[in-house]
Amino acid sequence: MKKTIAMLFTASLATLSSGAIAFEFPANWSEWKGVNTTLTGIGALPGCEADVSSLPPIYQETVATYCALREGGPGKVNILVAPGSESNYQKRDGHFSDGPQMALHLIDLKAIMFTGYSNGLPVYRTYGEDGKNLTNAMPQLSEETCIVCHTGYEAFCLNGQCGTAK
Ligand code: HEC
Repeated sequence: MKKTIAMLFTASLATLSSGAIAFEFPANWSEWKGVNTTLTGIGALPGCEADVSSLPPIYQETVATYCALREGGPGKVNILVAPGSESNYQKRDGHFSDGPQMALHLIDLKAIMFTGYSNGLPVYRTYGEDGKNLTNAMPQLSEETCIVCHTGYEAFCLNGQCGTAK
């Protein structure tokens, strides 16, 4: 018995040290406000066979990363911003208070990709609409994958926030 508790404790420490301190699933996410972006203008993420050669490279890479999530592509998307953070969002400089702040809602897949902040630094989590944590459910949803674009495309994403002003 003692051994089990010790093992559980070690396991939870390991989770914490791998950066799990982030934010809880925001239960009010469906009340967040939608914003207009390049992606919401496109409206949906297409399947892998789609010709996206006319899109900017980061959008091509987004399609390539996520097209296989479902036959025919992930489908309809929306971008949502937490209440009170709309003006921060419009500045597009990645300055937000801590907690969940922005969401990419995969409407057809009933999943939501969240960008939040912890000590001013971006943190990424994916949840089902029901609050189930899907962050490590598949490689495309892992935080490492999010970082590839949200940190990697410096010209397009600032401190975790992507998207050109509209
Ligand atoms: C292949 C590149 C790529 C990957 C990987 C990626 N994103 Fe994004 N993400 C984008 C682009 C491009 C946009 C801007 C789309 C738009 O609104 O025009 C975006 C937008 C977002 C937004 C809306 C706020 C913003 O920054 O514009 C959130 C929230 C988001 N992504 C979360 C995530 C999470 C969480 C992950 C990992 C599970 C992830 N993204 C992985 C490219 C990517």
